[in-house]
Amino acid sequence: MEVFEAIKGRRSIRKYLDKPVEREKIEQVIEAGLWAPSGQNNQPVRFIVVTDRGLIDEIDAEIYAIGKVFKRIRLFIALFGKEMRGEGGRRVFKSLHENGLYKAPVIIMAGAQRRSSATYMKDCSLATQNMMLAAHALGLGTCYIGWMRLLNHSFNRELLRRLSLPKGFEICDAAILGYPASSPQPPKRKTVEETVTWVQ
Ligand SMILES: Cc1cc2nc3c(=O)[nH]c(=O)nc-3n(C[C@H](O)[C@H](O)[C@H](O)COP(=O)(O)O)c2cc1C
Repeated sequence: MEVFEAIKGRRSIRKYLDKPVEREKIEQVIEAGLWAPSGQNNQPVRFIVVTDRGLIDEIDAEIYAIGKVFKRIRLFIALFGKEMRGEGGRRVFKSLHENGLYKAPVIIMAGAQRRSSATYMKDCSLATQNMMLAAHALGLGTCYIGWMRLLNHSFNRELLRRLSLPKGFEICDAAILGYPASSPQPPKRKTVEETVTWVQ
């Protein structure tokens, strides 16, 4: 698939077939993530791949439960995190809902040792975007799940143990993955004209 076709054709998929994804395909997707740039080529990103249906459902419920608590204490959180201040912080919780992982058969989390490098969060995000594009090129669907970061605040020891998260590990990004059961229309994009300031 040509790169522009992949970039423009990738959609957030929120309906999946009840069909497992072959391990080789998941590995191909991860490999695309590994080829993303990273600050000083540190390559701090590690991946947690979850394919256990029961565990995915538990993660889904846990994220929703933590999200509901955070929603209630949003103004308190805003004291520490500027991204929760103002309209943006209010709006983000409107998208919190049950079944936020859409019964996808796979979760890929990208994370790193907390503060292991100056750029570990960016490195994770770049890897995740690469993976979503590669998945699309392989005929798979993905959806970025911003709420997954809430798992970093989980006290559910049993769940965290089953995820085998290394000590000091931070989940930075995540995408769900599976065979798509829908092909949504592309949401409108702003134009180059609307978004660029040319400095010539
Ligand atoms: C930081 C970030 C967080 C997101 N979190 C979620 C999420 O938790 N659930 C969801 O369904 N979509 C989520 N999305 C997907 C966006 O809604 C989606 O990318 C956007 O509507 C554009 O649609 P497209 O990806 O099909 O082009 C997120 C996207 C980004 C970049």
